[in-house]
Amino acid sequence: MKMEIQRTQCNNLSKPGFDWSKEDYQNFGRKNQLLKHNYHQSELFSDTALEALLDNYPRKWLQCYTMGTNPEHHRDWTPVHIADRSGAEIIEALHKGRFWVNLIHIDKYNDDYASLISDMYDKIGENCPHISNIRSSFSALLISSPGVQVYCHLDTDANMLWHLKGVKKAWVYPADDPRFTPQNYIEEIVAEERHENIPYEKWFDKHAFHAELHAGDVVSWPQHSPHRIENIGFNVSLTTSYASKESRRLIGVHGANHHFLKKWGIKNRSIETKGLIAALKEFSYLASKKLGLLKKGERTSTYISDIEVDHTSDTGTRIRDAKSRTAFSYTD
Ligand SMILES: [Fe+2]
Repeated sequence: MKMEIQRTQCNNLSKPGFDWSKEDYQNFGRKNQLLKHNYHQSELFSDTALEALLDNYPRKWLQCYTMGTNPEHHRDWTPVHIADRSGAEIIEALHKGRFWVNLIHIDKYNDDYASLISDMYDKIGENCPHISNIRSSFSALLISSPGVQVYCHLDTDANMLWHLKGVKKAWVYPADDPRFTPQNYIEEIVAEERHENIPYEKWFDKHAFHAELHAGDVVSWPQHSPHRIENIGFNVSLTTSYASKESRRLIGVHGANHHFLKKWGIKNRSIETKGLIAALKEFSYLASKKLGLLKKGERTSTYISDIEVDHTSDTGTRIRDAKSRTAFSYTD
């Protein structure tokens, strides 16, 4: 069952978006940036819309996790059952508790969000000649309890975070810097043999681009920059990932380095993305992947849990009698 956003309400708003300078566009994806947008004013992200979304959102696409307080302990990440809670109940529990819901594939679920994200990339594509054939690859709406964190990690695709409600802190660490991400890590993440989480240590923060995000801020970074988040209060953000000719080339180079060059014992594997060799790497990686010739990554996630969202509890959750697989473990 799909949510129907009130189109009349949406039509009363001026079209949400952003108005960046020429220099902002020139630096997009090349440097860390904290810029402005006004998507938070859209009815698509109102309290009413969020409750309606959560009421009907397919449970296979509604991830829910709790976690600890130490940013160095990413293994504290624990799945939580949503069960048949309503949107209002989930939001009430989020305010009381310490967990995070992630509405993955928001653009596949609802045409209004798809249109917003498509317009976003049309505008970036028109103004960023250094990014060719940009298109959405993955988008998710994140709704978080006060104080929760997202551990330091690295996403394969290029991405950014549009902040919509509340206050959160973001740390972005330099991309392709072996102090934070040894080349092996990036290759294994691309090959899905390693989880995206990076073994973070507190000294990383001395080298971070650090920003406090308020509604209407968007933070972006060069592809493969590790990053982590801490929420101050109740938070809502939209994370969007994109594919482009350049981003696919970088993935292809790392993929070929992992699957071919590393297996041939080549220690110094170039990550140069320009030129014939880089193009051959990308072609051979993508063609081999498409033909099913590459060994499948064995990265696994834990989906078994006995924690359930419960708005009647002071903690926003309760413990079940037995552990079982969460509904979102059956995602497609
Ligand atoms: Fe991320």
